[in-house]
Amino acid sequence: MKRRQTASLVLTMAMLMASPLSWAQNTGKLKIGFMLPATGTYASLGTAIENGFRLYLSEQGGKLAGRELEFVSVDDESDPSKATDNVNKLIKRDNVDVIIGSVHSGVAMAMAKAAKESGTILIVPNAGAQAVTGPMCAMNIFRSSFSNWQPGYAMGEIAAKKGNKRIVTITWKYAAGEETMKGFKDGFEQNGGTIIKDLSLPFPNVEFQALLTEIASLKPDAVFTFFAGGGAVKFVKDYSAAGLKKKIPLYGSGFLTDGTLDAEGSDAEGILTTLHYADNLNNKRDQSFRLAYAKTYKLQPDVYAVQGYDAAQMLSIGLNATKGDPKNINGFAQALRAAKIDSPRGAFTLSSSHNPVQDIYLRKVVGKENILEGVAHKSLADPGLGCKM
Ligand code: BEZ
Repeated sequence: MKRRQTASLVLTMAMLMASPLSWAQNTGKLKIGFMLPATGTYASLGTAIENGFRLYLSEQGGKLAGRELEFVSVDDESDPSKATDNVNKLIKRDNVDVIIGSVHSGVAMAMAKAAKESGTILIVPNAGAQAVTGPMCAMNIFRSSFSNWQPGYAMGEIAAKKGNKRIVTITWKYAAGEETMKGFKDGFEQNGGTIIKDLSLPFPNVEFQALLTEIASLKPDAVFTFFAGGGAVKFVKDYSAAGLKKKIPLYGSGFLTDGTLDAEGSDAEGILTTLHYADNLNNKRDQSFRLAYAKTYKLQPDVYAVQGYDAAQMLSIGLNATKGDPKNINGFAQALRAAKIDSPRGAFTLSSSHNPVQDIYLRKVVGKENILEGVAHKSLADPGLGCKM
């Protein structure tokens, strides 16, 4: 046997003897569990997240840290009552290595509990529930999106600075709506405004008529809202049809007009919202992302696609640092805590509770786009209350 062949045989034997099990585990396929909505009012949000995730993976040649990925998917229907069963199917039946999900805050809280108990890496690519990076935080739980408080707080500051004094809020009665309104209230009241009425209806109800009549009779300076997906489309259309658009400015957390403008049409024109993304950021990273996304899916990307793309980037950073081993939670977390994530939204870092610290943009709807008006709040961090790691 030639000398070089002998050397490589010895090296291979040494690697196998050093850690035969982990070597085999870290070079085989990595199993990813997608738990996202495929039906219901948030279905299109789930699709955009998965599209973004798969785009990043294909840009890496289909492998992360040298490992191929295989996928198992569950339609969580944005239904918190089914979330524990659904996530346990992924963890206990399918033995996934990593979980990606979900969109709905109530679903994500059940996922965080299961991930914390099992030690499975969880990357949340949308749901803003503060508990996930608050009291439920853990070394193996990360978010590539936002906390509900962040866009609400930034818009509270803006609404006050625009001279509004009396505002009515309206949303769905669950964590995403309530926490967004709390963020708005914090930003608005710290700057001299008053919330004169909080209106709400159960998720995913879209019977807005009685509440719109109440808004008309309260005559506030403006209205602030959180709705997303199909519910956002219905709200924007109903607000306009009720004749309120011309009389009372409508502000929103950016989900009101992200991924929804084709359906909302001219009823959304001019609406101001705050979010960690806009359609014309014009940085190089975003330009190439938008081009690749449009070419691959024949669709324009939205904030959900960006969050899915960044969830894959975050997974890649953690896996590269641990030589493809998602069981090395400390190594995975240390790498992400130190990382600057090169997102199409602009680079961001993670807070000590693993939530993005990021710029929140003020955007205005012009035609079919959320056009950047400016940075509403630079490097905004969620307070991360109650997180102990
Ligand atoms: C949530 O439930 O956290 C959520 C859903 C859709 C858009 C934004 C947040």
